[in-house]
Amino acid sequence: MPADPAKMTLSNSTPQWTLLFVAWLLGSVFCTAQAAAPNSQAAGGNAARGAVSKSYPPDRVEKGKSLFRQNCSFCHGRDATGGESGPDLTRSRLVTEDVDGDKIAAVVRNGRPEKGMPPFNLADDEISSLVAFIHTQQNDAIAAAGRPGGRKGVDVSDLQTGNVEAGRKYFNGAGGCASCHSPTGNLAGLASRYQGLELEEQMLYPKNAKSKVTVTLASGQTITGTLVYQDEFTVGLIDSSGTYRSWRTRDVRYNIYAPVNAHVTLFGKYTDDDIHNLMAYLQTLR
Ligand code: HEC
Ligand code: HEC
Repeated sequence: MPADPAKMTLSNSTPQWTLLFVAWLLGSVFCTAQAAAPNSQAAGGNAARGAVSKSYPPDRVEKGKSLFRQNCSFCHGRDATGGESGPDLTRSRLVTEDVDGDKIAAVVRNGRPEKGMPPFNLADDEISSLVAFIHTQQNDAIAAAGRPGGRKGVDVSDLQTGNVEAGRKYFNGAGGCASCHSPTGNLAGLASRYQGLELEEQMLYPKNAKSKVTVTLASGQTITGTLVYQDEFTVGLIDSSGTYRSWRTRDVRYNIYAPVNAHVTLFGKYTDDDIHNLMAYLQTLR
């Protein structure tokens, strides 16, 4: 596995780690009240803040673990200890400070798209299971602090274990990929552009995907183009002549077409085998 500078910094930053440990010690001393009430919703204002080392019901943790493996481990590692593209959550200060999901839930729901973390559309109950798993992993990591141990991440050798034919079949069949992609069209030469984990990441969460937008003016005229800007007040596009145009959202109606969002939905559906097989297949598209 190639050396990951982010990880190296983390594992070498002993002071940060020590702080976390101290925070945890303080937390376990001062937050016992919360620890005794595992189901309390601590989002309210007077809840104690800080590191909470509490245990969650094992079935909730188990559920969180499988959701995590499905949705998050690709970036954050199977055990939440960090992967190729997501930070180690067991050493995350945000996780340390989180109380029953009051911080984690927002990150999961909104993502940090500009930093490479996609938003997830998960039910409250799924999020609280994820929260239980992440805290449990952090507590375990803290308990094991000082013990030498390798960290696990995404295993690059996993990328070579798929079956090309099964991948092709999934691509054209159950995966529905062929409705938007063609190996000789928009995916031609894919494996020459991306390799290994980068390819896997691009398949799971394509970066720089363009969305289309159709704006209908008050006059009834419609303009279609590539969406380049959108917030509550403004929508902007590049039209077919390459010109940037924007409107106040309250003056127009607009429809965004973002086919790449299919990838977010797909992400919840793949099994590990599907991913490995797809990777094997996509790696043949040179
Ligand atoms: C495509 C990669 C990717 C996936 C999938 C992903 N994350 Fe992240 N996540 C990131 C990145 C990158 C960051 C760091 C963003 C930053 O630097 O602010 C992050 C940050 C976080 C943070 C905040 C950590 C901190 O200290 O600020 C939490 C919590 C988190 N992710 C949880 C999750 C959970 C739970 C899932 C699954 C539901 C998930 N992530 C899926 C890439 C990912
Ligand atoms: C509803 C349409 C849709 C479906 C279904 C879909 N994708 Fe995509 N995919 C997109 C869009 C849109 C992009 C972004 C392309 C762009 O804007 O450059 C994309 C990007 C990609 C990329 C990156 C391409 C590149 O050149 O960087 C890969 C790889 C990919 N998809 C694989 C798949 C696979 C595998 C499946 C099926 C499991 C799938 N897609 C299903 C719409 C779709």
